[in-house]
Amino acid sequence: MNEILKAPFMEEMAETAANMYRLGWDERNGGNISMIVTEKEASPYLELSAPPLRKIPLGFDASSLAGTLFLVTGTGKYFKNVKKDPETNLGLIRVSTDGAQAELLWGYKDGGRFTSELPAHLMSHMARLSVDPEHKVIIHSHPTNTLAMNFVHTLDEREFTRTLWQMCTECILVFPEGIGMLPWMLCGCNSIGEATAAKMKEFRLVVWAMHGIYGSGKSLDEAFGLIETVEKAAQVYMLTARLPRLNTIRDEELKTLADAFGVSYRKDFLGL
Ligand code: 13P
Ligand code: ZN
Repeated sequence: MNEILKAPFMEEMAETAANMYRLGWDERNGGNISMIVTEKEASPYLELSAPPLRKIPLGFDASSLAGTLFLVTGTGKYFKNVKKDPETNLGLIRVSTDGAQAELLWGYKDGGRFTSELPAHLMSHMARLSVDPEHKVIIHSHPTNTLAMNFVHTLDEREFTRTLWQMCTECILVFPEGIGMLPWMLCGCNSIGEATAAKMKEFRLVVWAMHGIYGSGKSLDEAFGLIETVEKAAQVYMLTARLPRLNTIRDEELKTLADAFGVSYRKDFLGL
């Protein structure tokens, strides 16, 4: 068996967590990441037929993901520590055949368990897989400017998206389908998971009002890059929100851009 800490999926996960911490998006244990790992990717590093280290009840039905492996951040674990100690701060789990339990194959070395937001993650994985068979990653984070913008901008999906599209020319190309918005809700429970997953059928990005954001993608880079782009646009918004606005990217210009790059965008989010 090869050294699992050297596995590309492990190194990329640790690197992503380190970048999220470096950018100030994930204070303390704020945020969580889950990524599908294929058996082909995992088998050089783990004996997949061995009995699991532990079984942890999921508390919801994940039977459509039975047998799927996920690398997941641990609950209460600090993003700043993931890279220096992946085996304590991450776990590799497999959804049991009946979809009721997580079988721990590696990690959570100190007796820990998966993120409290696993319902939102696994339900979002199900939703994204139903529209994109290549989907792999869900990231939840608390990026500063995105969060700040929640307090001073309307939380309407169309208005929030359109404002962000206006902040940086390339936003409409990066997230042409826009951003799903949820009102403030209790986190860490099945109902916010169900609400997030319902939005994830339509959007790769979902804002949890006054809490943070979810991003999804076929890779860690895609999910990270979506959040990074939103956060950059939100930063430009926050830097300019109280200043007189002299210029803007007009709706016709956003349309010209999307048409030139052949991007299918939410036309009803523009005022044309
Ligand atoms: P966990 O530490 O359980 O991952 O929770 C962090 C968080 O961001 C909750 O929304
Ligand atoms: Zn959170």
